[in-house]
Order: sequence, then C-alpha cells, then structure tokens
Amino acid sequence: MTNPMPHEVAKLVPAKGNINGNTMDAYKKDYETSMEKNDEFWSAKATEILDWMSPFTKVCQGSFERGDIAWFVGGKLNLCYNAIDRHVLNGKGDQVGMIWEGDEPNDTRQITYQEMLNEVSQITNALKSQGVRKGDVVTIYMPMIPELAFTMLACARMGAVHSVVFAGFSSEALAQRVSAAQSKFVVTADKGKRGGKDIPLKKIVHDAINKMDCQEIVEKVLVWERFYDPASTEAPFEMDPKDVRMNPLVAVQRPYCPPEVMDAEDNLFLLYTSGSTGKPKGLVHTTGGYSLYAAYTTKTTFDINEGDIFACVADCGWITGHTYVVYGPLLLGSTTFLFESTPVYPDPGRYWDMIQRHKITQFYTAPTAIRLLMRYGDEIPSKYDVSCVRVLGTVGEPINPEAWRWYYEVVGKEKCTIVDTYWQTETGGHIITNLPGVTDMKPGSCTLPVPGIDAVVLSAIDGHPLTDADKDENGNLEGVMAIRRPWPGMARTCLGDHERYLTTYFKPYPGYYFTGDSVLKDKDGYHWIIGRVDDVINVSGHRIGTAEVESALVAHPAVAQAAVVGEPHDIKGQSICAFCMLTVGYDESPELLKELKMAVRTGVGAFASPDHIVISPSLPMTRSGKIMRRILRKIVSNEADSLGDTSTLADPSIVDTLIAKFAELK
Ligand code: PRX
Repeated sequence: MTNPMPHEVAKLVPAKGNINGNTMDAYKKDYETSMEKNDEFWSAKATEILDWMSPFTKVCQGSFERGDIAWFVGGKLNLCYNAIDRHVLNGKGDQVGMIWEGDEPNDTRQITYQEMLNEVSQITNALKSQGVRKGDVVTIYMPMIPELAFTMLACARMGAVHSVVFAGFSSEALAQRVSAAQSKFVVTADKGKRGGKDIPLKKIVHDAINKMDCQEIVEKVLVWERFYDPASTEAPFEMDPKDVRMNPLVAVQRPYCPPEVMDAEDNLFLLYTSGSTGKPKGLVHTTGGYSLYAAYTTKTTFDINEGDIFACVADCGWITGHTYVVYGPLLLGSTTFLFESTPVYPDPGRYWDMIQRHKITQFYTAPTAIRLLMRYGDEIPSKYDVSCVRVLGTVGEPINPEAWRWYYEVVGKEKCTIVDTYWQTETGGHIITNLPGVTDMKPGSCTLPVPGIDAVVLSAIDGHPLTDADKDENGNLEGVMAIRRPWPGMARTCLGDHERYLTTYFKPYPGYYFTGDSVLKDKDGYHWIIGRVDDVINVSGHRIGTAEVESALVAHPAVAQAAVVGEPHDIKGQSICAFCMLTVGYDESPELLKELKMAVRTGVGAFASPDHIVISPSLPMTRSGKIMRRILRKIVSNEADSLGDTSTLADPSIVDTLIAKFAELK
C-alpha cells in the first residue's frame, strides 16, 4: 500500500492568536471586496500604506494578452523615501531599523533609521560620483552585509535599477547576467564570510568581467571591504584598473541626498530567474506596485506590529531577500534582520540562539533548513527560550508535514502560527498563504489566497477553470495554478524580451497568469502546491533551470548530450541527477565524473552541482530527437514500474540500461 498523501490525512490546526485582532470574517470580507471592487481595494491600500509625491490618476490598466499592465498610473513616489526618510520624519530616527548578524555570532551591528538615511544617502552620492545615472542597471554581487541592503536602497533612491546576483553564482553565470543587462556598474565586496570560510567575491567578479563582452560593458567595479580599516590607505585586495574602493569613497560623501521622483511604473529592479529553457530571464519589477505589494504582504502575513523584530534569513540574491529582508519590513518602519551565516554555524542551534538574543518576533526560513535542523534532534531548540516568536514562516518549496510538525511543536511549542507562504520571483510577494490568528492551518498546505489574488485552478488538459463539477469523490480539484487578474506586485516584463514574458506566463492559458506549478485544491478550498510542471528544479529552495545545468555539462568536451532532472532528496527537497552521453573517445572514470561536477560549479555555481551523474550510451529520445525527461524523472524517483508509454522512443531498450545504471549509484 502506498503512503497517503498529506492532504488526505491533514487535520486542521486552529489558528493561533494574533495581536492585531484580525479575524477570518475580516479576511473573507477583505477578499470579497478585493474581488468585487478591485480598484477601490488597491487604491485604498496604496494611499494608506505609501507616501506619494504626486497622486496616481488610474489604479490599474492593461491586459494579460498584451502584457502591458500598469499600476497607479501617473503616481510619483520614491521607495527609499518610503522605506527610510518618512520614518525619520515621523520621529522614528532613533529606532533600530536593521540588526545585522555576521558569520560569527558576536559580530553584530544595530543601525537606526537615522543612520540608515545618512549611510544610504552617502552611498547614493558615491554612486552618482562614479557616473551612475537614473535608469542604469547596477549589478550587485555581495555578501549578506548591511552595505548590500544599503546599496539596493541607494539605487532605489536615485532611480538606478539594481540587479542583485546571488553570491553563490559562478563567474560565468555572473558574466552572463551582467552582459544580458548591459550593466555598466558592478558593486561587490573584497570577500564574503560563510561558515568560517572566506568567499573570494572580488576575484569572481574579476573573472566575470573578463568573460563574454563584459570588458566592453563594465565601466566600474565598486568594491566594499568586508573588514574595512579607515586607517588603511591601501586596498586589502588587488586593485584592477576599473576598481574603486567603496568605503573611503562613501565616507567623504554628504550624508543627505534628495530622493529622485520616480514614476510608479519606472523600473525598480531586475532579478534573474531560471526557466525551463534558455538563458535566465531578467524579470523586471516596477516602483509603485512592488512597493505596495511588499509592504502589504509583510504586514498581513506576519502580523507585524510596533516594536516587532522581523527576521527573514533568506539571501538578498533571491526575491525573498528583496521583499522580506529589505523592502517589506523597512517600508513598514519595522526592524529587519540581516544574517550572513548558515543555520549550522558554529552549531545547529544558531537560529534559535539568534531568536533568543535578539528577541525576534517573526522568523522566516525555508523547509530545507528545517529538515536539516530536525536531524540534529529536539534537544537543540529546547535549550533556547524562543517564546518571543509569534510567527514562524516557510517559503520556497512545499513543506512536508513532518518538518511542519517539528517547526510547530518543537520550535514553536504549539504557540506560534506557521505561515506557509507560496509565491515566486514573478509575483513580487506572497500570493497564497495562511494568516496568523485568522486561517486554521493544515500541515503542508499554503491554504488560501491573499486578498487581491484571484487564484484559479485550471485543467492541465484543456485549460478550463475547474469548478465543483470537476471535483473528485473526495472533493478535490487538481490542475495548474493560475491567476485571473493583475495584482500590483507582478513582474512587468523580461528585460529585453517581452515576447518571452508573454510566451512563458500568458500564452499557455489565455486570460490567465500561469505560475508553472501544479496544485491540488481540497474540499475546504485549501491549496496544496505539488511542484513545477516545467523542467525547473527546486534544490534547497533554489530555483535551477535544467537548461543552465545542461549547457554547463555539454560545454565539457567529453559530453555529447546531457539531460538533467530533479531527484527526491530528504533534506534538499530535490537534488540534481544528470544523465550524460559521452563524446566518442571518452570513457567513464571517477576523474571524469569529478570534472563534470566541476563544470557545473564553474558554469552555474556550487549550489547547482549534481549529486548523481549517470553516464549512458544514449538518452531516451523520441524519433524526432526530443529527450523524454518524464522517463528520467520516473527512474530517479524509483517509479520505474510506472513509466507509461515508451513506444515512441527511438530505442526503448535504453530504459533498462538507465534503470540499471541508476540503481548502481544508490
Ligand atoms: O514551485 C514553487 C516554489 O518555488 C517556486 C518559485 O521559486 P522562486 O521564484 O525562486 O521563488 C522562491 C521564493 C518565493 C514556485 O513556483 N514555491 C515557493 N514557495 C512555495 C513553493 N512551493 C510550495 N510551497 C511554497 N510555500
């Protein structure tokens, strides 16, 4: 007998009390208003949550068909002003806006809103002094230090468009993103620190700008020093001709810089993300809609209140860091937390120790970290007093009920809400999540849509919106996750490739935004995200495109063809399994396997390195030459007994060979 699916056995866990008095009735009313009077709903939120330099004249215009959505048309504002200045003007200058904890637990900084205003202004002036202008793309490749968030804010202040590249990407992947965005400026640090080790970021940038056409594109590399000594006149790193030392440059700048007047639809940032095919997409988020959506979802999902200390431990290289480390909490005038290290350094009590020491009230991480920490046993969290936490959040991948239970019972002592937040780089902020004290929870379900999100389950076969008539005998609907109308936080285009934006998100199901995920909606209307329906792999919550890993593999002369699939993994959720067909003249050897892993590390980054590589005489291809990944996915999931129809394969006998080879690895 197979194990029951989580939704079949899930029991409702009553919502835990919030302190803002939100109720299920209020949520339902809000949701209804948001559907019936969408413009009024968002207009009221935009006026209540943000300060505008000029009011908007139209709430929303455009269509999914053309992909010309615009929010708060004609409105002018500055995100950095909203995130910092207005709090200072409202008398909160002395409040700590950011707590930073470095790789070593005793390496911490507390920065007030006033200090942030001064430092971000100085950075803005420094960027301007180096020739950065409104609209320029500034690539940021930095460790998780306050200067990373401040550089993002400085870009927003002057209207430069930041493109943060996760510092785990290789020089090649960085070069690709710099080149695609034609980014004249790269901001980095001499090094990063993680788990006691140095990460040579500046060196990686150096390698990147010598690749592709980056030498012609990049004018300046602005380098922060991880351990700056104001007395030192010499850089602690090898200076290249394009390098500028950031710390001494910033120190001499005027600590005020007026915020630029930005149109609501001016580009705010780019963030590259992986799709199933081709190169990473540079998704574009714009100023007004994104700011509102970041602030609104941070407030409602985490039940933020005056005096709260909000900790999202994601990296700013991903959307979670943008929305819930930097922009959301600061827009609300809350105290945000920036964390440089890992959950297990110097020991696996790090998170709980941080919560206790800093009196964190909301804590937000990924299921993969929870699964990892679970392995170290219940005693570790029990050693710490984490009673200050009210909300524990998870993001990035489905959370398995065992991990949910551990988070709820062992960490939260059954007193906290677990918010399971479902969203994407493209959505800007949460789209489906439970709310503290409002929504009864079910372990493993992200529950109900955020007000304003017209969430629809579509038939994967013909695209019709599923209705009661489509329910199975248990009252469940199963299909693909889509959204029927625009929302302020949605990405507006793919930089330089609007057609790709339309093709990926709006053409598959006309009239809908297509998430790329499959979903089950149960009899209570609760959503259970099953996973991607495309070839995107989710390793430890990191979204990795198969095409990127495959092209790194075939760049090695030994590989004639490669196909990459996600393999179930106890901690990472999925790991990467690569099937490679070798070029004539090459043979399988342990050295070659090492080289191939290295090829992925250099082509993409260490986080995308395959756990398994299967060398095979050929790949399961149709007669027209298309690789049938479906078969490979079944093999790595130990479901080879339900392969389905293999008769369309050019050589069906290859399947048995692959099954045998994969079994040898296990
Ligand atoms: O498959 C879904 C999964 O992560 C994808 C989005 O990845 P990315 O753009 O990198 O953003 C990650 C952080 C928002 C989605 O298409 N995903 C994200 N959150 C959840 C999730 N799957 C299940 N449950 C979630 N809570």
